[in-house]
Amino acid sequence: MEDKMQKIISLCKRRGFVFPGSEIYGGLANTWDYGSLGVELSNNIKQLWWKRFVKDREDVVGISSAILMNPKVWEASGHLKGFSDPLVECKKCHSRLRADHLRENYDNKCPNCKGEEFTDEKQFNLMFKTFLGPVDDEKSVVYLRPETAQGMFVNFKNVQQTSRKKLPFGIAQIGKAFRNEITPGNFIFRILEFEQMEIEYFIEEDSWQSVFEMWQAEMQKWLVEALGIKKENFVIREHEKSELSHYSKRTVDFEYNYPFGQKELYGLAYRTNFDLTAHKLDLDGYIPHVIEPTFGVDRTILAVLCDAYREEGERVVLKLKPTLAPYKVAVFPLLANKPELVKKAREVFNLLKNDFMTAWDDRGNIGKRYFSQDEIGTPYCLTIDFDTLQDNTITLRDRDTAKQERISISVVVDFVKQKL
Ligand code: GAP
Repeated sequence: MEDKMQKIISLCKRRGFVFPGSEIYGGLANTWDYGSLGVELSNNIKQLWWKRFVKDREDVVGISSAILMNPKVWEASGHLKGFSDPLVECKKCHSRLRADHLRENYDNKCPNCKGEEFTDEKQFNLMFKTFLGPVDDEKSVVYLRPETAQGMFVNFKNVQQTSRKKLPFGIAQIGKAFRNEITPGNFIFRILEFEQMEIEYFIEEDSWQSVFEMWQAEMQKWLVEALGIKKENFVIREHEKSELSHYSKRTVDFEYNYPFGQKELYGLAYRTNFDLTAHKLDLDGYIPHVIEPTFGVDRTILAVLCDAYREEGERVVLKLKPTLAPYKVAVFPLLANKPELVKKAREVFNLLKNDFMTAWDDRGNIGKRYFSQDEIGTPYCLTIDFDTLQDNTITLRDRDTAKQERISISVVVDFVKQKL
């Protein structure tokens, strides 16, 4: 299964989904850059999410808050004190490791040198620090946000007043978060800089259980219906009491069966009224409680790629849902050296480009072009040949079935639209 991961990483690099960060300088550990296909996939995921959870719902509104916040936010939220992992150092090779990972995954032996002696555990805060203004002193320390959630809590009153929403209602945001993880790794699974899509859903306390169930069902539907992830590839796991974050009374994780093991994809937490109370918002009377569904963009990309990856005989194919695929359609002139075919194919390309991300390929033979599009998940390929010049029909080839049919140029835009 590790092998599958290597194949996905290599496909991502070869085809422009994900590149190692700062590669020409030897990289920067656990930073990754999205290439031209990766950014399309990522944008498609974020747009679908926003449509489903903000635009299509009357009870959720969006915001986009600043990454840098007043450090008092992190003091009040408990992150300065409590947002840390237990750190140990291997006495032999000096690797820095998470004590809990060492116990759970490596039988208390250093994964790098098999050493068995470690320094005492100390708590390591995961927030990245930087300085505001020209002086690098303690007074000017600010933090890169480790979750987008706090931007929603501190703006609760602004949003409630301007949107005039009544409980229950939610605030959503998509944005970057930063964590100085001790042992990052597994490609884009655990990285230092990542994107979150979060909702803080404000409620009356006594409704928390039913609202929790409602969001759990919504998250499950998102995975299966919107992303096309197979039900058997994820599980919902209840947190033990000892695992709960400092703010949570109940949390479940959606865990995906990645090639390197079953690990967290998303979380759903009942944060009580911990945050709004901590920020001492001047609310008249009742302090709402909150249910928080949280979705990592990068882990979504990883899960979607793992779920879609197939090897079928000669070909590698990404069976992405058409809504997620970077290119919806590819256009090929049968022969690149026949100007009349290229001209006609360009017309078709321009027609489609208005509505969809459309690829153009006139290299090599048609079979190779199909394989190349399969590997990046393009659902439909259209070939323009000599018959097209006579009757305005083209060959449409389906990625999943590899079947070909002849359709008229006049219906092709509607055909692809129906699939999205
Ligand atoms: N506001 C709640 C919160 O931040 P979390 O479980 O710590 O909860 C939420 O993070 C989601 O963010 C995770 O479920 C995961 O999808 C993503 N995430 C967290 N840390 C990450 C990391 N180091 N790299 C990539 N994604 C991460």
